[in-house]
Amino acid sequence: MLRSTLLYLSNQPRVFRFVRNNRLAKKFAKRFVAGERLDEALVAVKALNAKGITASLDLLGESVTNEREAHSAASEYLTILDRIHEQQLDANVSVKLTAMGLDISEELCVSIMHDVLGRAQAYSSFVRLDMESSAYTERTLRLFEERLYPVYKANVGIVLQSYLYRTSSDVERAIQTKCRVRLCKGAYKEPASVAFPDKREVDANYVKCMHVLLEQGTYPGIATHDPVIINEAKRFVAEHGIDRSRFEFQMLYGIRRDMQEQLVKEGYGMRVYVPFGTQWYPYLMRRLAERPANVAFITGNVMREMIGGRKS
Ligand code: FDA
Repeated sequence: MLRSTLLYLSNQPRVFRFVRNNRLAKKFAKRFVAGERLDEALVAVKALNAKGITASLDLLGESVTNEREAHSAASEYLTILDRIHEQQLDANVSVKLTAMGLDISEELCVSIMHDVLGRAQAYSSFVRLDMESSAYTERTLRLFEERLYPVYKANVGIVLQSYLYRTSSDVERAIQTKCRVRLCKGAYKEPASVAFPDKREVDANYVKCMHVLLEQGTYPGIATHDPVIINEAKRFVAEHGIDRSRFEFQMLYGIRRDMQEQLVKEGYGMRVYVPFGTQWYPYLMRRLAERPANVAFITGNVMREMIGGRKS
């Protein structure tokens, strides 16, 4: 119920306008978002790299409504790739196709993605296409397979979500094309007609897809904070003699930092997804929806502020 409400609120721009300049909301967002500006995000990446953790930078922002906004988001991505290269950071980028104009026109989106991927290719870098709600799954995969991957095989990859019924067959599709996959559980509000309603089924499907990707995939990203699944990945690769260089774990900025560092100490590859930018509200709401304890944390802060305690 709470999860559904938070996911509903994540799609309400009016609520964002209300919280955008709220000091407490911004303070809370800082736990999950590296800042509103690129230079703040680059500082966060540097700190992660110093701990042996690689990064994927995400400029927050979802569907754009006109061509100018799409070009502007793309030009920010070009700058991000330039800065990563100049500062020799161990980082790549994650992009949402709706931020690159997919809802305006597919041709616009493809043309913009050629610019971004061309720049990534020049730097031998990598662009991950984040996966959005199920309304975009097929369009994203088709556009990737037909228009982008054939040209930039080493520089672009996809995300698959274990909450969707279709994902095990999409994993097979990805194995055939030999493309890189990030596997996550999925963060959007989806109907039972397309997604497992029961979390246990989502987790079981994750493990099933993860086994296939670890054995047959091309450098999969195991993107989860779930300690049971992470332990299963470790057990599975040890049992099947899969080298640690053939995959990486991935987690979100600010979540389970202890486990991120522990996995690095144990010799596993670890990449942290580092979101930044002014459009942090939908992202923050999805993180709250994943863990109701986060709502209690923010409510506690608001209450303390109301009664005059400003130390937290
Ligand atoms: P689960 O939600 O079961 O959580 C397992 C444990 O992790 C919890 O018990 C808790 O300890 C910790 N945890 C999880 N979320 C937390 C939070 N918000 N705050 C504090 N602790 C938390 N989704 C998508 O739809 N498209 C995408 O492109 C991506 N991309 C992506 C990249 C990367 C690197 C990651 C790690 C995740 C994504 N996701 C995503 C989000 C993903 O789908 C999922 O919503 C979150 O990772 C939470 O699911 P877990 O796998 O962590 O498991």
